[in-house]
Amino acid sequence: MKNRLAQLIQRDGRALFLPIDHGYFQGPTRRLERPGETIKPLLPYADAIMLTRGILRSCVDPENTKPIILRVSGGTSVVGEDLSHEGIATSVKEAIRLNASAVSLSIFVGSKYEHDTLLNLARLVDECEDYGIPVMAVTAVGKELEKREARYLALACRIAAELGARVVKTYYCKEGFEKVVEGCPVPIVMAGGPKVDSEMEVFEFVHDGIQKGAIGVNLGRNIWQHDHPVAMIKALRAIIHENATPKEAHELFIEARGSRK
Ligand code: 5RP
Repeated sequence: MKNRLAQLIQRDGRALFLPIDHGYFQGPTRRLERPGETIKPLLPYADAIMLTRGILRSCVDPENTKPIILRVSGGTSVVGEDLSHEGIATSVKEAIRLNASAVSLSIFVGSKYEHDTLLNLARLVDECEDYGIPVMAVTAVGKELEKREARYLALACRIAAELGARVVKTYYCKEGFEKVVEGCPVPIVMAGGPKVDSEMEVFEFVHDGIQKGAIGVNLGRNIWQHDHPVAMIKALRAIIHENATPKEAHELFIEARGSRK
């Protein structure tokens, strides 16, 4: 367990996870139509990649040595009845065979299927602990993006940790994020959600979230849907691993982008 966690969380205690699992319910998401191509230039800057077994098998070179966080929950789609109705879609045996460093699963606190997704998490933890595999719980909100506020996120993160998650992925919120972190006894990484208009907004929230105790990010669309994804990930890496300020990260972004536009 310690060894696997050390593959994910770096010696400085921080982490930059790059998720490309969105297709498991969204289909061919914009700029993730060919995931292998999307991640090729980004891999050197990521500490781990998060994806499903199908994309790992068909789009990622098996000689890739970046740690894998295997998304094992699924069974719903954006056009289906209820995004929260997920089950466990990949076995722990398969995670071991694919040499995953961790597995991830979504919980939908406050949804119609809250109970089922929480028990999915508890059962997955039971099985993974036997093999020393960390479980990263994803506090998912489905289409209800407005749920991303401190009281709700603190509740969901704490429940995930109580059920045995070793890492929790949640959303950042401007007000009260420190309360979310304080109430969760395991490391928190932040997702980005739908792409926002300005890169500075991303740098600012990641920086603020880290000041408030998050260990890093599990951030996808705001990197690979950007016109300059490599510049984005380089700048974010500087915030996470070199304590760069948002302004310094932006300077780095401009330099990496190669023009002032
Ligand atoms: C999708 C996920 C994503 O991995 C997570 O939301 C992070 O990606 P993004 O930054 O694009 O929101 O769990 O189900």
